[in-house]
Amino acid sequence: MKVGVLGSGDVAKVLAAGFLKHGHSVMIGTRERSKLEKWASENPPARAGSFSEAAAFAEVVVLAVKGTAASSALHLASAPNLAGKPVIDATNPIADLPPVNGVLQFFTGLDESLMERLQGEFPEARFVKAFNSVGNARMIDPQFAGGRPTMFICGNDERARGIVAELLDQLGWETADMGKAEAARAIEPLCMLWCIPGFTRNEWSHAFKLLK
Ligand SMILES: NC(=O)c1ccc[n+]([C@@H]2O[C@H](COP(=O)([O-])OP(=O)(O)OC[C@H]3O[C@@H](n4cnc5c(N)ncnc54)[C@H](OP(=O)(O)O)[C@@H]3O)[C@@H](O)[C@H]2O)c1
Repeated sequence: MKVGVLGSGDVAKVLAAGFLKHGHSVMIGTRERSKLEKWASENPPARAGSFSEAAAFAEVVVLAVKGTAASSALHLASAPNLAGKPVIDATNPIADLPPVNGVLQFFTGLDESLMERLQGEFPEARFVKAFNSVGNARMIDPQFAGGRPTMFICGNDERARGIVAELLDQLGWETADMGKAEAARAIEPLCMLWCIPGFTRNEWSHAFKLLK
């Protein structure tokens, strides 16, 4: 598939390289193309462009920007470039405040989520929450003695969730489909839980698994 990744941080670069490794065509987008020139030269045939060029290129969009900037980045990507497309939302609503005893502070409350806000703002896009509850070092082909870790996903469009589940399977994950967008209220805080061992014990390499 043609994957358009919005972002120039570690998550964007890791996911872009991962989709490339697994045979997809990739364009990565930023406000400042110079930030990605080195990455693009090291990852041919991936290309770097603006947010809107990456979104226009995409059959599947990946949103990998700072949570507080997610709406702005999507506006720069432009709603018509997102319409009808799965948008894999890896963001977390982390506030610009320090963690409290290792617990991140969010700018959302318990009865809402960043992804629902974005879905409300961009109704034609088909948001699917994924990749928000694991560190970027483990996002692609994660290897654990306990087998494949679980990626919790959700989003209003069933077909988009199916596409994302297929992509996750290629990238080495099992998927736990939690249904509609409101499930992001539970999936986004998994990021808080995931980060506690990191901030308190410098352990950053775990992932979640759902046992049945
Ligand atoms: N780090 C991890 O391992 C990890 C794991 C899971 C989920 N996440 C989530 O993934 C997302 C990306 O994390 P990250 O650490 O890779 O990068 P980040 O530092 O959180 O975000 C960098 C990106 O945000 C964009 N950005 C910042 N301010 C902006 C603004 N005012 N308007 C538009 N875009 C703006 C930047 O755009 P430019 O390219 O134009 O500078 C850049 O692409 C975050 O939401 C994070 O919570 C991170």
